[in-house]
Amino acid sequence: MPVVNQENSRQILANAQYPMLFVHGMPGQMTVSTDAPEQEKMCFRLPNLTAQDFGDAEFKKTYGLKYALYGGAMANGIASSDMVIALGRCGCMGSYGAGGMRLETVAQEIDKIKAALGDKPYMINMLSNRNGEMEMQLAQMLVEKNVPAVEASAYIIPSEALVYYRLKGIRQENGRIIVPHKIIAKISREEVLEKFVSPPAAETVAALQKAGHITAEEAALASRIPMADDITVEADSGGHTDGRPLVSMLPALIALANRKQAEFDYQQKVRVGAGGGIGTGLSCLGAFEMGAAYVVTGSINQSCVESGTSDYVRQVLAETAMADVTMAPCADMFETGAKVEVIRKKTLYAQNAQKLYEYYVKYPGFDAIPAADRERIEKKILKDTFDHVWQGTKEYFTRMDPGKILQAEKNPKVKMALVFRWYLGSSSRWAVQGDLNRKFDMQIWCGQAMGAFNLWVKGTPLERAENRYVGEVAHLLLQSGAYHYMKNLLIRMGVSPANFGQDVL
Ligand SMILES: Cc1cc2nc3c(=O)[nH]c(=O)nc-3n(C[C@H](O)[C@H](O)[C@H](O)COP(=O)(O)O)c2cc1C
Repeated sequence: MPVVNQENSRQILANAQYPMLFVHGMPGQMTVSTDAPEQEKMCFRLPNLTAQDFGDAEFKKTYGLKYALYGGAMANGIASSDMVIALGRCGCMGSYGAGGMRLETVAQEIDKIKAALGDKPYMINMLSNRNGEMEMQLAQMLVEKNVPAVEASAYIIPSEALVYYRLKGIRQENGRIIVPHKIIAKISREEVLEKFVSPPAAETVAALQKAGHITAEEAALASRIPMADDITVEADSGGHTDGRPLVSMLPALIALANRKQAEFDYQQKVRVGAGGGIGTGLSCLGAFEMGAAYVVTGSINQSCVESGTSDYVRQVLAETAMADVTMAPCADMFETGAKVEVIRKKTLYAQNAQKLYEYYVKYPGFDAIPAADRERIEKKILKDTFDHVWQGTKEYFTRMDPGKILQAEKNPKVKMALVFRWYLGSSSRWAVQGDLNRKFDMQIWCGQAMGAFNLWVKGTPLERAENRYVGEVAHLLLQSGAYHYMKNLLIRMGVSPANFGQDVL
């Protein structure tokens, strides 16, 4: 009968081998053991929480998960097929980072994931896209390939393409509505949450039916299901972020989701999970304690060996502290001043992108910028001439969006924005490719969770990026969360904190 003490507390708590714990002894001097003590009269039996006990049981059942954790998408294939496969194999789920990837590549990566995972879970990221046609092509490909779930992000309202994915194949069997395509919507605003807890908008459904994308039966069932099965509340995080704290957002948005769905008579509840800032066992536990149905990680996964970034970036990430991240202008919404959370250590991206944005706001075109500044931009930031970058940019847009070239030829400010966006767009590619000639220009999306994780694992083998495997990291967070849950509970019951010694992970 092991008794929990300073040496073995971690092995015993949060260990599936010991499903029950027994708390006994005098109040204030309680002892914990793994079997019921024979002579003690006062004895409490406690189920011993483990990693797989966390989270909403329906969530895990819906996606076929052992653990209530998924790895969020990371664009440009940073959340790679290898990462998705590793997470799927270990009882979690990964969302493939389809953002910024060509349709053919996404299709190939889906085939790879399906071949490796069989019926194990995975998701593909659908990002709101100003180009509705491209978004519809992606949605159609996902339907054709029977992709079971998508992580939908950056939407303000669910687009036609997303509603198409949701409704295609929906049918009624024995009174129950079967929805073959699951959606986890990632949001950080109340009004967007409400859209995803509600059924798809009637006008969008009608437009899809009129265009022949969905059948009359599919359209008729639309009003009886929510747009999403699950909502991830994303707090301050790496990459695009509203930068809001999880402790404020999560409880409020869980309550809102519950209030909103009371308006409808769904056969299944819309659940709410949490992402943003989760990088230690206790932060993972905190999210579950606030009511999260599941947790989502991002930044920490980028530093793992399976991520689609470069070894150089993984190394930088493993050395990142919480204060080493900042907000900087982003490529896709440069003109609006939108920002992303990035690393500011060992790269000048944040300063450079900010300078380019300030020039863009202040001047009507590149030629209007004072000559000395223009020279500095070309030498120190672009490391190329404005005209040469423009030639390359022109070729790109002639293929992708020829209308933009016409606008730019007429308006020098548009031209300047496109050239500056070349720098911002290329900088994330240089990071993924590990182009050391451009290491000071690398745009590395990263949130505070990375620094928290690095501090947490300092002095352990996980301090080194080459030892970080995404499945093990996920398990460690949950396992540690379970340990801390049990430890806190036992201390509140009267067990001395001394029994648990110094915390290790
Ligand atoms: C490098 C990187 C790229 C990301 N790209 C995307 C993306 O393309 N789509 C998306 O939905 N979320 C993206 N995210 C957000 C993650 O999926 C996840 O929600 C977030 O990282 C969780 O917060 P954390 O970074 O604090 O762990 C990205 C995050 C990072 C760090």
